Amino acid sequence: MSKHFLYSIILLCFFLSCKKTEQTPTPIKGLITKNAMVVSARAEASEIGSDILKKGGNAFDAMCATQLALAVTYPFAGNIGGGGFMVYRKANGDIGSIDFREKAPMAATKDMYLDENGDVIPGKSTLGAMAVGIPGTVAGLFEVHEKLGSLPLEDILKPVIALAYKGTKVTKKQAKTIKKYQPLFLKANKDSIIFDKHWKENDVIKQPALAKTFERILKHGKDEFYKGETAKILAKFIQDNGGIITEEDLAKYEAKWRDPITFSYDDLEIISMGPPASGGICLAQILKMLEPFHLDEYGHNSLKTIQAITEAERRAYADRSFYLGDPDFVNIPIKTLIQENYLSGRMSDFSFEKATLSSAVSHGNIQIIESDETTHFSIVDQFGNAIAVTTTLNGAYGSKLYCSELGFFLNNEMDDFSSKPGEPNMFGLIGAEANKIEPEKRMLSSMTPTIVEKNEKLYMTLGTPGGATIITSVLQTILNVHEFKMTMQEAVNAPRFHHQWLPDEIRMEPNSFDRKLIKQLEALGYSINQKDAPVIGKVDGILVLDDNSYEGGADYRGDDTAVGF
Ligand code: DON
Repeated sequence: MSKHFLYSIILLCFFLSCKKTEQTPTPIKGLITKNAMVVSARAEASEIGSDILKKGGNAFDAMCATQLALAVTYPFAGNIGGGGFMVYRKANGDIGSIDFREKAPMAATKDMYLDENGDVIPGKSTLGAMAVGIPGTVAGLFEVHEKLGSLPLEDILKPVIALAYKGTKVTKKQAKTIKKYQPLFLKANKDSIIFDKHWKENDVIKQPALAKTFERILKHGKDEFYKGETAKILAKFIQDNGGIITEEDLAKYEAKWRDPITFSYDDLEIISMGPPASGGICLAQILKMLEPFHLDEYGHNSLKTIQAITEAERRAYADRSFYLGDPDFVNIPIKTLIQENYLSGRMSDFSFEKATLSSAVSHGNIQIIESDETTHFSIVDQFGNAIAVTTTLNGAYGSKLYCSELGFFLNNEMDDFSSKPGEPNMFGLIGAEANKIEPEKRMLSSMTPTIVEKNEKLYMTLGTPGGATIITSVLQTILNVHEFKMTMQEAVNAPRFHHQWLPDEIRMEPNSFDRKLIKQLEALGYSINQKDAPVIGKVDGILVLDDNSYEGGADYRGDDTAVGF
């Protein structure tokens, strides 16, 4: 073999091996369907929703069925004892949103979680009956069904009732969480509850009490929950356990249709939830602050991308803490908060050379005041209607208080109020006057059910649980698809990070980020926390592909599943 020939062979091998590494990896795709899809936290709930669509129901019918099925199969967060938000976009382009967030009872007071020294009483706003806000879910579902649904209520409720009687299989993850929270179930409840048992993977949990509550709701409508037998049992149960919710509180509850927050980012039009959810405004602020940066050039989870996102998040969360609360109680300068001028001003002191300190960032100055454990599911139906729904009990199994007679857990949403200015809640979020406790007020939420349009057509529907990290998880998923050209499933799978102004740290999913990158961030003055957020968000979304089929992104971090046809 001549030397020349040998060199040629070596060169060829080198060239071929380079070619190989340059090849783009095969994209990871979620479920793809032609007509319709439901992505939720549990397979049984997605199946029930998808079956409703197959029967000819629309996304709004499927929304009601999926939410109720989650109350059966995912009591960790699925609920009728909590509340939530839905954003929708109809096939004809009409958009809207509904707020069925919990409210403070009439007897609530600003200082109800403080002791005589003015200190927050640990656990009072998170565990047991005092933590419970007036549940909004049932009112929300009835509003949605009445205004936008198409099937008779019976068709929606029957499969859910059957599921509650038949029972649902315990997953491995569920067995773990039940076990983890059992000591708190014992603390919160006087009597033993169904979830005290030693549940193992594949055991079947039957919930006849919940099935009966659903049957009464089917028979007597919304009033059953807010004025009927269920209301009487519920108010008495809460009071017997030391809470302050009355029958009158329940009777007065109403879900509210609200204007969604809409804004553009590049060629996308984004529709998200307004106050009392902070999600839409914060998402708009962060994306608008990021718009001038070239994230696609910096690269996914690269040093510069993480810096730019972190700094935008820091500033948005500082505004959240000061300005946002229930719009029925406080004036929120929404227009200014999401205006380009205002936001470019907020970012004007940012440099890639050095981290901004949160102590140096406060809320922005706005002079003119103008006249925004959880689960998310996304649905697109065969008619082209899309919904994004996030609902919650707040903490895992809410207040842990379980009404055995009615068959459901009650929320601990009162903790989302600011119990004391400057004092962090269970998500470390700091609040101020705007989110103080007042009778009949809704507590500020981070929920961010979101729909994205491109070229005036539906492009994506998504959302997630995760407390304060909800907003930043939705943000990163949109950016992953739009800037970094990921599939829906890849966008959901990608490692996530989070900054919320205070505490001044970037939380990162552990072992998902390069060590060198972390060192570089630390050298620039960022404090990195890889311990406290093992999982950031559980995003469920649907992406419309070029051929108009749908790709589901179901988060592997939970038992989330996409089902469709
Ligand atoms: O409304 C909120 O922002 C909170 N109650 C959400 C709680 C949550 O996402 C917990 N899930 N991990």
